[in-house]
Amino acid sequence: MRKKHIQEFVQSYLKENINKDDITIDATIGNGHDTAILAELSKFVYGFDIQELALVNTTNLLKEKGLSNYELINDSHENILNYIKDFKCIVFNLGYLPNSDKKITTTKKTTLKTLKSLTSYLKQNQFIIITCYPGHQEGKMEADAVLDFVGKLNSSFSVSKYELINKDNKPPFVVIIEKG
Ligand SMILES: C[S@@+](CC[C@H](N)C(=O)[O-])C[C@H]1O[C@@H](n2cnc3c(N)ncnc32)[C@H](O)[C@@H]1O
Repeated sequence: MRKKHIQEFVQSYLKENINKDDITIDATIGNGHDTAILAELSKFVYGFDIQELALVNTTNLLKEKGLSNYELINDSHENILNYIKDFKCIVFNLGYLPNSDKKITTTKKTTLKTLKSLTSYLKQNQFIIITCYPGHQEGKMEADAVLDFVGKLNSSFSVSKYELINKDNKPPFVVIIEKG
């Protein structure tokens, strides 16, 4: 239930901030739910995942929905800027692919590396939105590291956090990094 609430928040934020002429990026496509929303809202979406299965599942979902304005790339989000530099937003949904191998998860090391390079590149009107899941062990280390990193970004960024605070002691939360 709480996960659904967080996802609804992310979706409504995307709807408010993406236009039909924007290029968007899904850094962790998984089963493709965020990729599908980005494809519906924007001109074109690039999706990344290290698991071939995620590309298969996402392709199936996008085809089912009749969407064709996408390119899926079987590579780590660490390499996003090697493929595309002109974008409106990058969406991260951290953790592991639902109903799959829980050992293949986003990690503190790679997520931080990517956030460092993306934030040093980020320009006015671009944003990054990240859903963090501190409820599992790697997720907790990763979420703490993300919060520590974004909390120290200089004042040329606006960083916000959205979290349900009355449900659980380790609820998922959303971080939004905007330039400007
Ligand atoms: C929680 S799932 C994403 C769920 C997805 N947003 C959806 O709507 O179904 C996290 C995904 O991140 C992927 N992942 C892990 N490390 C990655 C990396 N370095 N680069 C890109 N994707 C990665 C995993 O394979 C997994 O599919």
